[in-house]
Amino acid sequence: MGVEVSVEGLTKSFGSQKIWQDVSLTLPAGEVSALLGPSGTGKSVFLKSLIGLLRPEEGSIVIDGTDILQCSSRELYEIRKLFGVLFQDGALFGSMNLYDNVAFPLREHTKKSESEIRKIVMEKLELNGLVGAEGKLPGEISGGMRKRAGLARALVLDPQIILVDEPDSGLDPVRTTYLSQLLIDINAQIDATILIVTHNINLARTVPDNLGMLFRKQLVMFGPREVLLTSDEPVVHQFLNGSKIGPIGMSEEKDDAQMAQEQALVDAGHHHGGTDDVYGVVPQMQATPGLPVRQAVGRRQARVREILHTLPIEAQQGILASMNDDATQVIPAYDDGGFEQSTFERG
Ligand SMILES: Nc1ncnc2c1ncn2[C@@H]1O[C@H](COP(=O)(O)OP(=O)(O)OP(=O)(O)O)[C@@H](O)[C@H]1O
Ligand SMILES: [Mg+2]
Repeated sequence: MGVEVSVEGLTKSFGSQKIWQDVSLTLPAGEVSALLGPSGTGKSVFLKSLIGLLRPEEGSIVIDGTDILQCSSRELYEIRKLFGVLFQDGALFGSMNLYDNVAFPLREHTKKSESEIRKIVMEKLELNGLVGAEGKLPGEISGGMRKRAGLARALVLDPQIILVDEPDSGLDPVRTTYLSQLLIDINAQIDATILIVTHNINLARTVPDNLGMLFRKQLVMFGPREVLLTSDEPVVHQFLNGSKIGPIGMSEEKDDAQMAQEQALVDAGHHHGGTDDVYGVVPQMQATPGLPVRQAVGRRQARVREILHTLPIEAQQGILASMNDDATQVIPAYDDGGFEQSTFERG
């Protein structure tokens, strides 16, 4: 099973530029989480911090009992082996064909024979729809194919933690759905802890168990998917709707006067330009029939049941509605004062 990743009070700056501060969240073992946020809010920096490529100056990142900000480089090397990472730019070696790119981690980190390697590489290439392209160089294929090759490479060591940075960018809508299904299927098959950074609203609404959002140098929220999907937090609502209305502007954050002016235009019937009111919990994507059931589902239900009374009422209702599908009886845990002391993380 995947391992839990527990982040506490994390702060990262480059020189005098603070990227984000006091970020705390736990990626539950074996669950799928997604991190949203406008461009430049430091999502990629966050992923790189989780594998120890960047060093936040404050806080802790505990993986499998080890704080990777305190441990020795030897320990960090061992922890890194737990990860499979797809970087935003794919990060393929330009002079190697796809086969060699995907085989690279196996040749580097294992003592497997070339025939064993061949079996694994071809399996991962097939999983990502790349059979036939193994002899091509990264420069000879489309951006979407490069993404899929990067994902194939991220999977060859059967990682316990998978980080994928915008796996859907450069993919057409149909391929994005296949990719979403692939991520859920991988989770069902190897029960890895997965963190997806994405701008894709549809993927964000249907794939992850948990959702989080970075904005204004803070983690605005992180919790069960139902919490963000039913949130009335303006920035979350704006983002999930892809709307012009809200605190996110083209290049910077807006001030209150500007926001009020825009809202007045919408109230007068002027369209906000985004999707029309994406709100509420939609069914989550399930593993392809025939695959093992996702172990994460049962574990998450038990986990969420424990914190249910601390969540906003709309989120509770969404959770109960989806649990009702298989549970015979669920006792609602409404608790008026609970929202303030909620245990889901809120910036
Ligand atoms: N190695 C670095 N040195 C200095 N600044 C950096 C470095 N890496 C990232 N930054 C800065 O950190 C900020 C956050 O960058 P990051 O790439 O994490 O954003 P992002 O949320 O992933 O954006 P996008 O959605 O566009 O990918 C940016 O201002 C970027 O310029
Ligand atoms: Mg990024």
